[in-house]
Amino acid sequence: MKLLSLSTPDSTTCYLSSSAFLPSHSNGFQNLASTFKFSNNQARCIRKAGATKVTAKFELKPPPYPLNALEPIMSQETFEYHWGKHHRAYVDNLNKQIEGTDLDGKSLEETIVIAYNNGDILPAFNNAAQVWNHDFFWESMKPGGGGKPSGELLKLIERDFGSFEKFVDQFKLAASTQFGSGWAWLAYKENRLDVGNAVNPLATDEDKKLVILKSPNAVNPLVWSHHHPLLTIDVLEHAYYLDYQNRRPDYISVFMNKLVSWEAVSSRLEQAKAVIAEREREEERKRREEEEKSTTSEATPTPEIFADSDTD
Ligand SMILES: [Fe+2]
Repeated sequence: MKLLSLSTPDSTTCYLSSSAFLPSHSNGFQNLASTFKFSNNQARCIRKAGATKVTAKFELKPPPYPLNALEPIMSQETFEYHWGKHHRAYVDNLNKQIEGTDLDGKSLEETIVIAYNNGDILPAFNNAAQVWNHDFFWESMKPGGGGKPSGELLKLIERDFGSFEKFVDQFKLAASTQFGSGWAWLAYKENRLDVGNAVNPLATDEDKKLVILKSPNAVNPLVWSHHHPLLTIDVLEHAYYLDYQNRRPDYISVFMNKLVSWEAVSSRLEQAKAVIAEREREEERKRREEEEKSTTSEATPTPEIFADSDTD
C-alpha cells in the first residue's frame, strides 16, 4: 500500500491509499495518466500548516492473514524473513530511491512501468516491482486454499489448457524451470502487442486467453502491454528455503495443492475483463465519432468558387 501526501494550495494535505489486491493498470504503456488509477481508493485529508511539498511514501502492507496462518505449509519463520525482512527492505529502499525524484508521487504501478523503461531498467524498478509482486503473492494465497477453481475461471482454464490438470502441470513446469530468481504467473492476455517490448516471453496472435508466463528477478506482467496478472508464485529461494531447502518442486506442488486462493484469482479475472470491456467501449465510441466526422465531411459539398473576370 502507498500513502500519497499531496499538499494543496490551501495547505490541506490529502492521503490516498491503493490496494495491490487487484492490478490497477488497464492497458500497459498507453495513456499512463488515465491508465493507472487507484483501485479501492481511500482518501483522507488533514490540515497541515505551511505544507507545500508533494511527498510520497509507500508502506509495507501485511498479508491478509496472520503470519502463522499458512503453517505448516509455509511457516511463520518464513513469513518473518520473507515479509518481515525482504519485503520490508524493498519498501524502505524504494522510498529512499524515489525521494525527490520525478517518481515521487507516482502510484506503484506507474513507478514500475516508468522505471522498467522498455527494458532499459532504471534503479527504482527492482524495488518497486518487488513491492507489488509480494503484495500480489501474499494475496494469491489463503489458509485452506488450493483445490480447484470454479465458474468462468475453470471454463477458461479448460478452454485454454485442455484441462485443469494440464494447466497445473504447465504452471508447475514454468515455476520449476525459471532459472535462478523470478516468478511464474497466470495472466489474462489481450492481443494488443502494439508496444515496443522485446522480452514478452509468450507473445501469440490469439485473442484474449489465459497464458502462463515466467519472469526473471523482479519483472512482472505489468510491463508487458495488455497482460493482466491473475496468479503468481515467488520462486526466489527466500520464499521456500527455510521450509523446503532446495526442493523447489515440492514447494510449488504444495502451493498449488493447498495455498492458492482461487477466489482471489477469479476476482482478478473479473476485474481484468471489466477493464478491458470499458476500454473497448471507449475505443468503439471513438471509432464511431471518427466515422461520423468522416461521413459528415463527405456529405458536405465543396462550394464552387466563381471568380470575376474582366476578360469576358
Ligand atoms: Fe520473495
